Amino acid sequence: MGYQNARCRKPETFHELRHLSAGQVSSSQQGVHPRLERTIRRHLDRHWLQPLHRPSIDSYQRLKDESSFADGRSFILDSGCGTGKSTQQLAKQYPDHLVIGADRSQVRLARSGLQQNLWQRDNCILLRADLPTFWRLLARDGHIPHKHFLFYPNPWPKPGHLKRRWHAHPVFPCLLALGGEIEIRCNWEIYALEFAQAASLATGEPVAVEKYTPQHGASPFEQKYLDRAQPLYSVTVPRQVTKVFRHTQGEKHSIFSGSKCY
Ligand SMILES: C[S@@+](CC[C@H](N)C(=O)[O-])C[C@H]1O[C@@H](n2cnc3c(N)ncnc32)[C@H](O)[C@@H]1O
Repeated sequence: MGYQNARCRKPETFHELRHLSAGQVSSSQQGVHPRLERTIRRHLDRHWLQPLHRPSIDSYQRLKDESSFADGRSFILDSGCGTGKSTQQLAKQYPDHLVIGADRSQVRLARSGLQQNLWQRDNCILLRADLPTFWRLLARDGHIPHKHFLFYPNPWPKPGHLKRRWHAHPVFPCLLALGGEIEIRCNWEIYALEFAQAASLATGEPVAVEKYTPQHGASPFEQKYLDRAQPLYSVTVPRQVTKVFRHTQGEKHSIFSGSKCY
């Protein structure tokens, strides 16, 4: 993709320093959110009945009717794929899988050529959809991804925005129950620590945060942070762990039964 890597040398000017610190998460929250555990436990204990998002149901239907998803081939998800550049890279990396990138932003997806909510080239599919609805529909129909990547989700750094972070969002039990190996990457250590803690609380299994130092960015945001020499973190929830969660908790939360729309 032609990105440059500025990790190997020191910044020399004030402007360069300012550029390198740009994009770093700034938050008044200095550690794992004190209400994280209570929030996760509440989401695990209650049924989440938010209606499904009608335009995303339509996108999902098109995915099933008009793309090679219907062939039942093993697939990889790139959730919150932004412009879809990461999806295209993954598709090259995993030629035996279908790779599906989903994002709600028409503007970002259009940069890869998406116009009518669905775009496919070879084994790469881009889809415009709201993730909480898309994940629930896939889970309801038993479509389990081989791998599920979430590259650099919006950090929502204000403490009051805790429930917008994926691990503290009511859809989190469904994200786990959807299954497959989940990997999130982010440049805010607290987000990574919270995600790992939330996954561990929900599944009863240890989930660790790893420091992540790739040579090249897997996505535009990853490349941007690499260029600015920012530390990166990844959290992986193994497939076996999500499988057990799906079997023991999936039904209990009735997360596969959403039928109303908004
Ligand atoms: C910070 S960007 C990261 C983009 C890309 N993954 C990357 O690493 O370059 C987060 C992306 O998540 C998408 N997103 C956030 N909430 C979403 C939702 N509820 N449904 C679908 N996409 C969402 C945004 O539109 C945005 O493109």
